[in-house]
Amino acid sequence: MINLDEFTITEEALRRVGHTENPRLREIMISLIEHLHGFAREVKLTEQEWLEGVTFLTRTGQISDSVRQEMILLSDTLGLSQLVVAQSHSRPAEATEQTVFGPFHVEGAPNQPTHGADIARGALGEPLWVAARVVDATGKPVSGAVVDVWQADASGFYDVQNVNWQIDEARLRAVFKTDADGRFSFRSIMPVGYPIPSDGPVGEMMRATNRHSMRPAHIHFMIKQAGFDVLVTHVFAEGDEYLDSDAVFGVRSSCIGNYVRHEPGTAPDETWVVSPFYTLDYTFKLDRND
Ligand code: BEZ
Ligand code: FE
Repeated sequence: MINLDEFTITEEALRRVGHTENPRLREIMISLIEHLHGFAREVKLTEQEWLEGVTFLTRTGQISDSVRQEMILLSDTLGLSQLVVAQSHSRPAEATEQTVFGPFHVEGAPNQPTHGADIARGALGEPLWVAARVVDATGKPVSGAVVDVWQADASGFYDVQNVNWQIDEARLRAVFKTDADGRFSFRSIMPVGYPIPSDGPVGEMMRATNRHSMRPAHIHFMIKQAGFDVLVTHVFAEGDEYLDSDAVFGVRSSCIGNYVRHEPGTAPDETWVVSPFYTLDYTFKLDRND
């Protein structure tokens, strides 16, 4: 087909992917072309704007690697990641909600005893004791669940963001196994709100659209046990000023925890703490997948 104009080109582009054998790929390609063409028509995209968009995506790809996940960050900040998470995990009201995974989880974090570890491993911050429980939707304990935990330090950085970081330098991340009553506990530091990486194309986009880049204070958890949907979630700090405007749209009300501040005194592990400290008591409710 020749002489395609701004109106007939969509039909021809759709015709060309119409023979895609994989039916799901065909469905996705057809919808993608329809929406892309519709978008360009709706905003009357100019050649200059098209080139700027392509250059932006090229730079977003070029800065990405296995640690710097700028493409995922773009998806997160456009609300696409949380949309996909939300539509993939409709769950009963009792179950803890699923949130964005984020770019800072790493496989192979150190296994820690079910109770008593200090996962800060020297990272400075306000001390925090976490006592958590994993149950099913009816409240029965889920024992033997594998719980991956990761969080930023008091300056808002993950260990993995350090250049040449190695897994044996892991801090503020750990893997636990729940006990017979579904419980696990550990010591750490109080999480703080922090900005998502803003020194790349996504940061430029956030500034150009007059958005802040902050995430409310949180700790990440991923919980796996056979027979249950894998739970990827955060526990956010109640009262944080960024709960309503999280840069990546990840806050669900079932994921807000009560981090309680205490004056200096005896901590839950019976140690004496000379500074104010925090405790978090939180129950995760898993959704059965059978
Ligand atoms: C995070 O909380 O680690 C995160 C999630 C999405 C984008 C950037 C950071
Ligand atoms: Fe985070």
